[in-house]
Amino acid sequence: MVKSSKLMALQKMHTQKTCFAGFPTPLQKMPRLSKALNGPRLFVKRDDMTDLAFGGNKARKLEFLFADAQNKGADVVICVGAIQSNCVCMVAAAARRLGIKPVLVLVGEEPEVYDGNLLLDKMLSAEIHFIEGYGPHVDDYMNRLAEQYKKQGHHPYVIPAGASLPLTVPGYALAMEELVNQFHELGETIDYIVCACGTGGTQAGLIFGTKLLDTKAKILAASVFASKTDAANTVAGLVNRSAKLFGVGVSIVPEDVAVFDDYIKEGYGIINNEVTSALKLVAHTEGIFLDPIYTGKAMVMLIDLIKKGYFKADDNVVFFHTGGLPALFLYKTELQKQ
Ligand SMILES: Cc1ncc(COP(=O)(O)O)c(C=O)c1O
Repeated sequence: MVKSSKLMALQKMHTQKTCFAGFPTPLQKMPRLSKALNGPRLFVKRDDMTDLAFGGNKARKLEFLFADAQNKGADVVICVGAIQSNCVCMVAAAARRLGIKPVLVLVGEEPEVYDGNLLLDKMLSAEIHFIEGYGPHVDDYMNRLAEQYKKQGHHPYVIPAGASLPLTVPGYALAMEELVNQFHELGETIDYIVCACGTGGTQAGLIFGTKLLDTKAKILAASVFASKTDAANTVAGLVNRSAKLFGVGVSIVPEDVAVFDDYIKEGYGIINNEVTSALKLVAHTEGIFLDPIYTGKAMVMLIDLIKKGYFKADDNVVFFHTGGLPALFLYKTELQKQ
């Protein structure tokens, strides 16, 4: 009975999404990185190769949000984020794919030169608004924009920063299902997954997936801005609210969430020598590029945990590459230095 409700939840998730294609993303081995670190058996799940705007984790979340937006007849989506937000850019690409108008509210000052994600936003001809600082005024601004569009006869749909909502958590539960199937084909099982944690939806989805599939894989996340306590509360809250939404008896507590805040260091989006070295090591050993803001910090955590003897030599450890590559070139000065 319990099992069938879990399977039904997974089936329901499959029917509640639109499709941006590009799945399953490749699962690759990283033997040279593993050797260089004298580490466990390392794999990488290439979610930097999802569809939309150079790839990334948001594609899986947006499949659910855009299905909802389309069901509600939306013809405009309004989304908020940092100027270099990967999420905002992927929302704009998804909107264009579906013939919906993207309206982006970007927090920060308009730069003289458009680069990275902002350049892509511009190329997608998104309507861009710049707004100073985070706070309640941002929500007010978004609501006012939505009202203006409604008055003009449009149907706006508002997407919060990071798109981590109970409705979008299944994106990564289904990614977990995909990964479990890929490991099944290899005749292997997953011991650990390593990923970055921002607004929490990715880790929440992966944890939700392990619960629905009854797998033992442990999800370790590197927070990129929130304290360990805040991040664990957010992730547990997302899992529980999503379980309720999809009608399945899954429930976790913050203590079940393995999230580390030791790697935030100088702060969100600030690169340091460890991140630079990690990016170069992965490029040098495996020919794979990571981003400095999310996957770079998650890789610093993986390297540190290996050095601390966290894993056994025969553990299968999967690094979830969640994308973010358009921002790489913004860090050219720092990356050239070392
Ligand atoms: C490239 C990349 N990786 C990881 C994350 C973190 O994902 P989440 O917000 O679901 O925790 C983000 C979020 O913006 C991202 O852009």
